[in-house]
Amino acid sequence: MKHIMTENYEEMSRKVAEMVIGRIREQGNLVLGLPTGNTPIGFYQELVKDYKLNYTSYQHARSINIDEYIGMSGDDPKSYRYYMNHHLFMHINMKKENIHIPNGLAVDVEGECFCYDQVFEEIGPMDVLILGIGHNGHIGFNEPGTSFQSTTHKVELTEETRQMNARHFKSLDRVPEAAITMGLKSMMDSKEIFLMVTGDGKTEAYTQFLNGRVTEDFPASILHSHPNLTVIVDQSTINTPDNR
Ligand code: PGA
Repeated sequence: MKHIMTENYEEMSRKVAEMVIGRIREQGNLVLGLPTGNTPIGFYQELVKDYKLNYTSYQHARSINIDEYIGMSGDDPKSYRYYMNHHLFMHINMKKENIHIPNGLAVDVEGECFCYDQVFEEIGPMDVLILGIGHNGHIGFNEPGTSFQSTTHKVELTEETRQMNARHFKSLDRVPEAAITMGLKSMMDSKEIFLMVTGDGKTEAYTQFLNGRVTEDFPASILHSHPNLTVIVDQSTINTPDNR
């Protein structure tokens, strides 16, 4: 595991973007695993900035997003499809057909999960997966207790996660109760993983991650077994109070 300490959010975002841009320049048809949430917003801004300045091309790149809320249309500003369009896809030249995000409106959720796993069969494994970490150690929506063998699946969100995400909604009762998420096994199949650690109140999660005990009670701990993991830490938010 490589560890990079950065002074602040901007530096963390820039560092990860530089590494990812480097990979895309080396391999045009890179398969990227992409997260949502507050953590990667600066990273996406850096990719967009670079695209405008240096024309790094995504013409042959493919993306597989990590998760989506169930019951939410991609046109809904709270959906992760909308988030991705807004922060990244509308600004770069990745082809629509190369973008993969679970369909939150699928009537047959199990069928949707099955189809999503087929994407890995067809274009996977991912070359580079970018992750954030939740306060309870979740990665994607893989909540504590998720099997390390999991592939794409439906997840009932924990109360803690719903409360955390309520900041993006008008009220807690509007936060969806379930989501579709890429599983932990699929994540571990990625050839390379970047884990970004940032956000008030993440000190405990970071400390628990560092103690190295690999347990399904703390999903991010599985990453210790990955042969090519880089953890990039925004030091400015480590040891800050939990302002949730
Ligand atoms: P955040 O969430 O990026 O909004 O802090 C991370 C996560 O919950 O996975």
